[in-house]
Amino acid sequence: MTAKGKKALLLTTAAAAVTAIIWVKVSPNAGAVPGLTISKKAADRRSNNLSDDELKPLVASFRQQHELSDDPKPLVAFGAKLFFDKEFSANNQVSCATCHAPDRSFTDGKVKSEGMLTGSMNAPTLINSYASHWFFWNGRADSLAAQALGPMESPKEHGFSRSKVLARIQNSYRSEYESIFGKIPDVPTDRLSLPPPAQKHSKVSSAVAAYALATLGSETLQKTILRNAQTLAVQPVEVLKTMSAFVDETPTAFEKIPLSEQHAINQVFANFGRAVAAFERTIRTEDSAFDLFADRLPKASKPEDALGAGFGEAELRGLRLFTGRGNCALCHHGPNFTDQQFHNIGLMALSSEVLDVGRAQGLLDARDSQFNCRGPYLKQDELSESCRELDYIETESAEAVGGFKTPTLRNLKDTAPYGHDGRFPNLDSILQHYNHLAVPPAVGRIEESLKPLKFSAGELKDLEAFMLSLNSPVSFFREGQ
Ligand code: HEC
Ligand code: HEC
Repeated sequence: MTAKGKKALLLTTAAAAVTAIIWVKVSPNAGAVPGLTISKKAADRRSNNLSDDELKPLVASFRQQHELSDDPKPLVAFGAKLFFDKEFSANNQVSCATCHAPDRSFTDGKVKSEGMLTGSMNAPTLINSYASHWFFWNGRADSLAAQALGPMESPKEHGFSRSKVLARIQNSYRSEYESIFGKIPDVPTDRLSLPPPAQKHSKVSSAVAAYALATLGSETLQKTILRNAQTLAVQPVEVLKTMSAFVDETPTAFEKIPLSEQHAINQVFANFGRAVAAFERTIRTEDSAFDLFADRLPKASKPEDALGAGFGEAELRGLRLFTGRGNCALCHHGPNFTDQQFHNIGLMALSSEVLDVGRAQGLLDARDSQFNCRGPYLKQDELSESCRELDYIETESAEAVGGFKTPTLRNLKDTAPYGHDGRFPNLDSILQHYNHLAVPPAVGRIEESLKPLKFSAGELKDLEAFMLSLNSPVSFFREGQ
């Protein structure tokens, strides 16, 4: 949005909002806001590493065992074509693979990804994403199919629209589409080049906004918010809510066509997502040196006897720190080394002007999406984990503020740079973060269970060696194989 657009938006908010200004006392990491829940879970920090007997079942739970997919082959093959097709973009140069390249474990190697424009986030890997519950760093999509629709209509990524997706499928994939999904709807030709609908986001509650404001790590941003509130004669929390939600409700040409036509276009768009998701579910890691170690471990009398190629003494020491004193497995566990949850790991504000409340906004967007599992287009017969959670979404959670999705740790060799905004160029830099945890987070509070590791350089090297033992080749559907 242009600066002018933003100002107009704030003014609209101003007109509608309460005129009384309540000045909250703002200081980083100030007191909690009543009514917000902060759970006290799992704060117990290990002072020792695990015994060999405790290590064995944990290692077994990390060993990957892929579920077979029951997607029909024609759907997967269709999805693969869509994934690699650059014509689904405003300049005919951006495909999903632009930012999710197969030879980099489906990432792009960039700090922030570049499509039509440079984005604000780091492109996550797509390996084993069939097993994920929520998608995007803030989890605003509850299925892979719903996720795939986001980049299409993002002006920074494909810069495309659902109407143009319908047009391209009609022109180039009609018979393939129809053999899978049935007849493709005919809409008047002037409907085939419409822009996306307006981006509507719910705003976080006043309690969440007040908490975010009170915990802002950037003083410059605090000052900007207070200054804007004063100019617009609104409460500062209202300014913060608008910044977080990027609300722009001006209807576009898409919203002016008859609802029945909108519905037909949405259905094709959802099917585009279904096909792409079916291809994505084939993207899987093969066995790593760690997985082979995990296979040998049950038969060994002690872990040292189970060492082998790519998993030697340094990796074993690293595993012990990872599951023990490092407490990493608290969040990075299971076959993909993620708990599928969202946490604030205390990353400081990098840009003084950017506000990202993370999961606090993502869960509102997931709840409100017309393409979620409760909506008309991607309804699920068998409820997924995230769909069940969607019904009980806790929107008043302090932990969600500044929380981002726990990423997988498989194939880190291919997926640098790290972190939701790509701020860590290498593994050592993120380990240094966990080692010190010195700065206040950009927003919200750092999760209680995290305490500075204070590991020696040698220990950090071991931790790194362990993480790199999770590397493996990636397999995915290829036509003709
Ligand atoms: C311009 C680069 C770019 C393009 C093009 C792009 N993505 Fe992404 N992708 C990203 C970024 C950046 C994120 C993280 C964004 C966020 O969380 O807000 C992401 C997130 C994802 C995720 C979520 C992964 C997770 O673990 O949460 C999936 C899945 C995904 N993309 C698949 C796709 C598909 C399918 C397409 C094509 C329809 C696509 N992407 C096009 C950059 C891109
Ligand atoms: C409280 C939960 C939690 C704990 C404990 C934790 N992590 Fe993380 N980790 C996360 C989250 C969440 C992110 C993403 C944060 C972001 O980008 O905002 C992350 C990111 C990472 C990344 C970057 C991966 C990528 O692809 O961007 C690495 C590497 C990592 N953690 C390793 C570790 C190690 C090693 C430990 C133990 C010393 C550890 N983590 C402890 C939750 C946790």
